[in-house]
Amino acid sequence: MTQSHVFRSDLLTDQVCLVTGGGTGIGAGIARELGRAGAHVAIASRKAEHILPAAEGLSKELGREVLGVVCDIRDRDAVAAAYTKLMAWKGRLDVLVNNGGGQFFSPAEAISPRGWDAVVQTNLTGTWNMTHGAFHATMGKHGGVILNITMLTKRTFPGMTHSVAARAGVEAMTRNLAVEWAARGIRINCIAPGLILSSGVTNYPNGEQLFRDMQKHIPLKRAGAVQDIAHMATFLASEGGRYITGQTLTIDGGKELWGDWWPIADPAGGLPEVSVPREPWED
Ligand SMILES: NC(=O)c1ccc[n+]([C@@H]2O[C@H](COP(=O)([O-])OP(=O)(O)OC[C@H]3O[C@@H](n4cnc5c(N)ncnc54)[C@H](OP(=O)(O)O)[C@@H]3O)[C@@H](O)[C@H]2O)c1
Repeated sequence: MTQSHVFRSDLLTDQVCLVTGGGTGIGAGIARELGRAGAHVAIASRKAEHILPAAEGLSKELGREVLGVVCDIRDRDAVAAAYTKLMAWKGRLDVLVNNGGGQFFSPAEAISPRGWDAVVQTNLTGTWNMTHGAFHATMGKHGGVILNITMLTKRTFPGMTHSVAARAGVEAMTRNLAVEWAARGIRINCIAPGLILSSGVTNYPNGEQLFRDMQKHIPLKRAGAVQDIAHMATFLASEGGRYITGQTLTIDGGKELWGDWWPIADPAGGLPEVSVPREPWED
């Protein structure tokens, strides 16, 4: 097994972790890092062709079984079945990572009702379905850690109105549950990634070129790597994060603080002329 560059290999020994969207990109990176830190890892997503080879590959890498579960997080029956399978596997869940999600670029006015519903059902309702399921399966009694992977929401994200709304909903839900479930021994936080170079980037038209162009707008002058998110997830899952709850941790190389966030159109007729005004008595 290749070692983590950051964490001890016994940091999460005997912990059971479930990562949605764990068959690709950021989720696979998180699953790998949790596994390298000693956890038992299960991964879940809709497509068997994503999840099953990933479970097999990660099992080989880690040298112990990684459970692959086919589950659409929007489908409450499928979520219930996934928890039944997980409980039969290890009998508990210590860490849930809600990473499964997705969206598409669209001007707000062009988002169809179906497109809006799909994005909100996946990113907000799906996250809730998994979270609610974890509470009832085990965390309500035994406590645990929940991590929600969201996106940058503070500085607006033109072209992503549906997803920003859903993710901001997840962040508000996270703050609320952090308070409501604190006495149950549950910590819950969000990780908001900036531009992360994952395999998922190819889902967007011109995704690779987009990342090439956007790097100069990031203070650290590079796109993030999946490991950058995986390290924060592993830290929060561990004792290192034991006093952190209800927060959104932004991992973006400083992107949200500075730079052109996203190009928006100029007004019809162009920008106004700039001429320095003079005081009236100077004429
Ligand atoms: N990469 C970035 O720059 C970036 C930035 C901000 C936020 N994010 C967010 O971070 C997360 C991971 O992104 P990524 O870059 O790793 O892209 P990705 O590879 O496309 O990851 C999305 C994962 O979610 C799963 N998924 C989608 N819909 C699902 C559903 N209904 N039920 C269960 N699983 C579902 C997908 O697997 P299946 O297709 O098999 O279901 C896939 O494994 C996403 O939520 C993404 O929006 C990414």
